[in-house]
Amino acid sequence: MAFTPRGGSRGGFGGDRGGRGGARGGARGGRGGGRGGFGGDRGGRGGARGGGRGGPRGGARGGRGGARGGGGFGAKGGQKVIIEPHRHAGVFIARGKEDLLVTKNLTPGEAVYGEKRISVETSAATSGAAALDGNVPAVTKTEYRVWNPFRSKLAAGILGGMEDIYMKPGSKVLYIGAASGTSVSHVADIVGPTGTVFAVEFSHRSGRDLINMATHRTNVIPIIEDARHPLKYRMLVSMVDCIFADVAQPDQARIVGLNAHLFLKTGGGVVISIKASCIDSTAAPEAVFAREVVKLREERIKPKEQLTLEPFERDHAMVAGIYTRSTA
Ligand SMILES: C[S@@+](CC[C@H](N)C(=O)[O-])C[C@H]1O[C@@H](n2cnc3c(N)ncnc32)[C@H](O)[C@@H]1O
Repeated sequence: MAFTPRGGSRGGFGGDRGGRGGARGGARGGRGGGRGGFGGDRGGRGGARGGGRGGPRGGARGGRGGARGGGGFGAKGGQKVIIEPHRHAGVFIARGKEDLLVTKNLTPGEAVYGEKRISVETSAATSGAAALDGNVPAVTKTEYRVWNPFRSKLAAGILGGMEDIYMKPGSKVLYIGAASGTSVSHVADIVGPTGTVFAVEFSHRSGRDLINMATHRTNVIPIIEDARHPLKYRMLVSMVDCIFADVAQPDQARIVGLNAHLFLKTGGGVVISIKASCIDSTAAPEAVFAREVVKLREERIKPKEQLTLEPFERDHAMVAGIYTRSTA
C-alpha cells in the first residue's frame, strides 16, 4: 500500500479530517459538540461520538445480548449497552445512547484515573457456556473501561481510522512517554494477561502514578528512565512487537530509532504521535510531519500510514510504520 498522509489540509480545528476517516464514521462532533459521550470524566469537552472506522464487524451481537450499563458507570443504570469488538483485537465499542471506545478491564472493579466503567452481563444461554447447576444459567460479568480520545492519542488515532495499531492480545509493547499511565493502562487491557507493556517515563512525578498503576496491572513494567538512554533499561525489556511513542520531544524520531534498534523485532510496528509545535513551532504542521517521516525512514522505519488527530488534538499526527532493521 502506498504511503499517503491523511487529514493533512488545515481547515481549522475540527476541519478536514481527510480521506477515509470522515465518511466512515470515526469521530463526530468535536469539542463542545452535542453528543456528550466523553465529557463525563473530564468535564466540559464532550462531543465525541466514535464508532471507529469499520470498527465492529460482523455478527458479534448474538451471544452478548442484554448488556446493561452498571449503575453509576458508563451507561446510566438500566440502559442497554451492546459491546462489539472493534476491528483492532482487544479494543471494543460500547453501543448505547452514545457509542464509546472501551477496553476490557484487566482489574474489574477498579478504575485507573476516574474513567467510566461499563459492566456487561453474559448469560450461559447466550454465551454457550454450561450452566453451573443444570438449571440456573450461569451469568458472567465483564467490565469495560471507557477510553477517552481527548485524553489518549492512541484512542484518537483508533477513532480516526488507523489501519493497524501493531498490538493485540498477547503482544509485547514498549511504550515511550508513559506519563502517569492512563493510556498505558488501556494498552495493558488490550495486550491482556499474556502480553506485556514496558512503560518508559523519565518524570519521577508522573512515574509515581505509573508505578502505582502497575502494582495493580502486573503486565505493566514501569521504567523510570530517560528513553534517550535505552541501554540503562535493557535488562528489563525483552524484544517487542510494537513501539508506541508519545514523548513530545524534538528528537523523538531519534529516541524511537535508538529503542527500535535494541528492542524491536524485525517487522515490528512503530506507532508515533507527533506534536508539530514540539518539533518546530514556526513551520507548518504538515511540513513538520513530512520531515519526521524522513527521519523515521533514516531509522529504518518504513511508514505505512499517517493521519491527523483532529478533532481530538490540534496539529498532531499519528504515524505508523514497520521496522525493517536492514536498510536493503
Ligand atoms: C505527551 S506526554 C505522554 C502522554 C501519555 N502518552 C498519555 O497518553 O497519557 C509525554 C510524556 O513523555 C515524557 N518524556 C518526555 N521525554 C522523555 C524521555 N526522553 N524519556 C522518557 N519520557 C519522556 C514526559 O515526561 C511526558 O510525561
